[in-house]
Amino acid sequence: MVPSRSSILSILVVLLLSPFIVSLPIQDSVVQSSAQNLRFTLPSVPKPEFIFTPLQESHIQAVVICSKQLGIHLRVRSGGHDFEGLSYVSEIEKPFIVVDLAKLRSISVDVKHNSAWVQTLEQGATKILYRWQEIADKLDEDLFIRVLIQTANVTSQGKRTIATSYNSLFLGDASRLLQIMQHSFPELGLTRQDCIETNWINSTVYLAGFSNNTPPEIFLQRTNLLRAYFKGKSDYAKEPIPEKALEGLWEKLFEVESPTVVFTPYGGMMSQISESQTPFPHRKGTKFMILYSTSWQDARENVAKHIDWTRMVYNYMKPYVSKNPREAYVNYRDLDLGMNNNSNTSFVEASVFGTKYFKDNFYRLVHVKTKVDPDNFFRHEQSIPPLPLHMR
Ligand SMILES: Cc1cc2nc3c(=O)[nH]c(=O)nc-3n(C[C@H](O)[C@H](O)[C@H](O)COP(=O)(O)OP(=O)(O)OC[C@H]3O[C@@H](n4cnc5c(N)ncnc54)[C@H](O)[C@@H]3O)c2cc1C
Ligand SMILES: *[C@@H]1O[C@H](CO)[C@@H](O)[C@H](O)[C@H]1NC(C)=O
Ligand SMILES: *[C@@H]1O[C@H](CO)[C@@H](O)[C@H](O)[C@H]1NC(C)=O
Ligand SMILES: *[C@@H]1O[C@H](CO)[C@@H](O)[C@H](O)[C@H]1NC(C)=O
Ligand SMILES: *[C@@H]1O[C@H](CO)[C@@H](O)[C@H](O)[C@H]1NC(C)=O
Repeated sequence: MVPSRSSILSILVVLLLSPFIVSLPIQDSVVQSSAQNLRFTLPSVPKPEFIFTPLQESHIQAVVICSKQLGIHLRVRSGGHDFEGLSYVSEIEKPFIVVDLAKLRSISVDVKHNSAWVQTLEQGATKILYRWQEIADKLDEDLFIRVLIQTANVTSQGKRTIATSYNSLFLGDASRLLQIMQHSFPELGLTRQDCIETNWINSTVYLAGFSNNTPPEIFLQRTNLLRAYFKGKSDYAKEPIPEKALEGLWEKLFEVESPTVVFTPYGGMMSQISESQTPFPHRKGTKFMILYSTSWQDARENVAKHIDWTRMVYNYMKPYVSKNPREAYVNYRDLDLGMNNNSNTSFVEASVFGTKYFKDNFYRLVHVKTKVDPDNFFRHEQSIPPLPLHMR
């Protein structure tokens, strides 16, 4: 339905008068409220003209119609976790407005075990991590073990070391977990004392980094313990990374203050779904996904130094990860992989980052986009482009 001019005007008036528009000067604090990467709250980063906080679905329709009619670029924010802040910052089109869906929420959702196991280089961390790479994608369907790699101070000697933490979630009881580990991964040395038996919701409290016995109601406060300035990049490993290469990676980690590398196992159920069944293409043959990130807490830090560090590590890892394309995880959005410059998205350029995130599914997504949004109204720096006119 094409809304008549008068209905657009009345919607606009309603929007301008109603409480769900936030205007300056409180706008800044609303922008920041769910900006999960503080890098995009710095003063130099463009801010929206308006933030709409719809209270019901019809409000969203009104905003879309108005912004289309007025030609104001629109961004949509849910949780605000986008790695590159694309849900609340537009670097490529000004002015822009944000629709913040914070007030539209309802969720309806039995895992039993968590364990965490920390080891340092002194305890053979590299060897054990190598072993993890060989088996992580082949472990029991109900067992997930990811590895967090960070630096830690060796307090007595004033030097740094690498600490690998094995964070895991098992759907079953502790005795069965111990059996599986004894059989598949005895090198980790898991004991009964390392396991916590609990229900699923309490396990999420643990994985979010809250201390033991924190009630799950903490989530209603929407506190993000990891909120910081950060830059991240991702890779996919199809083969174990040789120990020598891992040792080289440790050297790089010592070059920044707070690096975090995370190895997340794939395989299991993920590899049983075919590559073309859903847009997400990283299936059979993928051993694990890698996150490289650096974070900081001081607004005065040199952002470029951190971004350069992630690029250097990414460069270093090239020989050991997926190729043609070098695949990437769309949830760990990375504008280094390329970006649309403005509403004129280039299909050819976008296929560079598009095939990294979606492999051949990118082309199908382009066809869907061409069908449902041929004018490219919903767009951002890494949105899926419609087909160019001459190719339709
Ligand atoms: C601290 C932190 C930890 C994270 N950990 C993980 C992790 O462990 N695993 C993982 O997979 N990912 C992780 N992520 C990434 C996160 O899952 C993705 O960024 C995800 O897209 C966030 O969703 P959001 O609603 O919070 O993001 P937003 O920034 O609100 O939105 C993300 C994108 O979706 C668009 N969008 C939002 N709502 C809508 C809508 N209703 N309709 C259409 N488009 C919409 C936005 O415009 C934006 O482009 C983490 C991010 C952070 C900041
Ligand atoms: C490690 O040591 C450095 C230098 O002494 C200090 O600045 C830093 O805060 C320490 N980090 C941790 C996690 O203790
Ligand atoms: C989950 O956590 C709550 C709050 O800390 C606690 O009262 C409850 O006993 C826990 N449940 C289980 C199964 O451990
Ligand atoms: C964006 O602009 C840069 C510099 O002008 C250009 O090199 C790049 O190809 C453009 N990207 C796209 C996706 O059009
Ligand atoms: C978009 O591309 C067309 C054709 O290449 C060009 O004529 C036009 O100026 C471009 N518009 C913008 C905003 O870059």
